[in-house]
Amino acid sequence: MKKTVDYNIYLIGFMGAGKSTIARTLVREQGCSLVEMDERIVEEQGMSINEIFEKYGEDHFRDIESRLVEDLGKKRGMVVSCGGGVVVRKENVQNMKSSGKIVFLTATPETVYERVKNSTDRPILNGHMNVEYIAGLMEKRRALYEEAADLTIATDGKTRDEICREILKKLEG
Ligand code: S3P
Repeated sequence: MKKTVDYNIYLIGFMGAGKSTIARTLVREQGCSLVEMDERIVEEQGMSINEIFEKYGEDHFRDIESRLVEDLGKKRGMVVSCGGGVVVRKENVQNMKSSGKIVFLTATPETVYERVKNSTDRPILNGHMNVEYIAGLMEKRRALYEEAADLTIATDGKTRDEICREILKKLEG
């Protein structure tokens, strides 16, 4: 039976950790509404993430991202698939913490590479699409993800249903 929750579930983690896929599966299970942050930004700005980075730079993208997190923090009952860099700003982590539970999805650099290698819509990885670069950036961000997380779930080698069950069990437990 579907249950609504009175808090938001924020999925964080590196690009390619499976946030969007797991968010969609969780929404089916939980009867919440889904917010895919990057998609919302693209819709609202009327341009791709690549275009935002190219025209206005990363800081501008981060400003838009922070405004969205602030808005989402005023609502409840949503599963939010966050952009991989959401943790770089403390204010985002505070807004997420005060309005929900933060679930950190992990994947090895090799798994991430396999999942994102054919994509060109991630400006952070354009021109650096290799396991070494992914491993380096992941390491730089690791502490930020870990400090933000209420719970951490490794996704390597698991099905989406297994990952969702694990999340729900830990959230309820
Ligand atoms: C970013 C991750 C992307 C997107 C942007 C920046 C990052 O989201 O927000 O390209 O800095 O890690 P996904 O994690 O959904 O790919």
